[in-house]
Amino acid sequence: MELRMLGPKRAMVSPIALGSTKFGRREGVKYPNDFVLPSDAELRDLLAQAKDWGINLVDTAPAYGSSEARIGGLVGADDHWRIATKVGEEFVDGQSYFDFSPAAIRASVERSRRRLRRDVLDIVLLHLSDDDTAILRDGAAVACLFELREKGLITAVGASTKNAAAGLLAVEDCDIVMITLNPADQSQRPVLTAARDADKGVLIKKPLDSGHHGDAGAALADLVCEPGVGSVVVGTINPDHLASNCAAVERALANMQAAVDGGDNGMGMA
Ligand SMILES: NC(=O)c1ccc[n+]([C@@H]2O[C@H](COP(=O)([O-])OP(=O)(O)OC[C@H]3O[C@@H](n4cnc5c(N)ncnc54)[C@H](OP(=O)(O)O)[C@@H]3O)[C@@H](O)[C@H]2O)c1
Repeated sequence: MELRMLGPKRAMVSPIALGSTKFGRREGVKYPNDFVLPSDAELRDLLAQAKDWGINLVDTAPAYGSSEARIGGLVGADDHWRIATKVGEEFVDGQSYFDFSPAAIRASVERSRRRLRRDVLDIVLLHLSDDDTAILRDGAAVACLFELREKGLITAVGASTKNAAAGLLAVEDCDIVMITLNPADQSQRPVLTAARDADKGVLIKKPLDSGHHGDAGAALADLVCEPGVGSVVVGTINPDHLASNCAAVERALANMQAAVDGGDNGMGMA
C-alpha cells in the first residue's frame, strides 16, 4: 500500500489505518454486536497482519481502556508504526469525563509517552466532546498542544471533531482534523473540502458507521479514493475483516491509478 502525506508535518501514512477502540474497551460503545477483547497473542497477530498489508498507522486514545498500553507494549518500539493518540477524554467506571485544561493535557501527553513507549508522539488529537466548537474557540487546549509540539514532544497536532463547524475551526488551527464520514453521515464533508484546500491532514473515523453499514468494501473503496483523505481509520479485531478491507482498498487504489494512467495517453487506455 503506497503511503500518503498527512498534512503540513508531512507524516507518511497508509491510506487505511487500524482503529483500536475494540483493543481495549467494551463498555459504552455503539457497535452492533458485543465482543470480547482480543488476547495479547490475537492482537500481536492482527498488528503483524496489518503491517504485512502495509498499514503503518494505528489510532488510539486514553479513553479506549487498555488500548494505548497494549499498543505500546506490542509495537511502541517498532518504528514502522505511526501512532495517533488523543487528549481530553477519560473513560472511568463506564463513564466519560472531559478535561481540556492545559494541566490535564500535559499530564495526558506524559502518560501517553509512557504507555506508548515513545519519546515523541506522532499525532495527538483533542478528543472533543459535544461542546467542541467552544473548546476550539477558547484556544487554550490547541495552544497547549502546540506548546508541546514546540518542545519536541509531539510531531503533529489535531482535533477529532463532532460537527462541521468545529471541523472547520480545526482546519484553520491544527495540522490534522479527524472527522466522521460514511454513507449514513456526510455532515462533515465540508471539512474535507476545506482541509484539502488548506493542505491539512484528514483522518476519517467511523467509516463503516461503527459497524452499522453493510457493504464495508465499497464504503472503504470510496473513501480512500476521495481527494484530500489522508487515512481511513477502520476499527476491527477480526483478521478476516482486516484482510477483506485491505484487499478492497488495494483494488480501489489500483483501479484509480489505472484510470489516471489511461487518461494520461489521451486514449482512455493504459
Ligand atoms: N471521537 C473520536 O475521536 C472517535 C470516535 C469514534 C471512532 N474513533 C476512531 O475511529 C476508529 C473507527 O471507528 P469505529 O471503530 O467506531 O467504527 P468503524 O470503523 O466504522 O466500524 C468498526 C466496526 O465495523 C466492523 N467491521 C470492520 N470491518 C468489517 C468488515 N469487513 N465486515 C463487517 N464488519 C466490519 C468491526 O467489527 P469487527 O471487529 O468484527 O471487524 C467494528 O465493529 C475507532 O476504532 C477509533 O480508533 C475516534
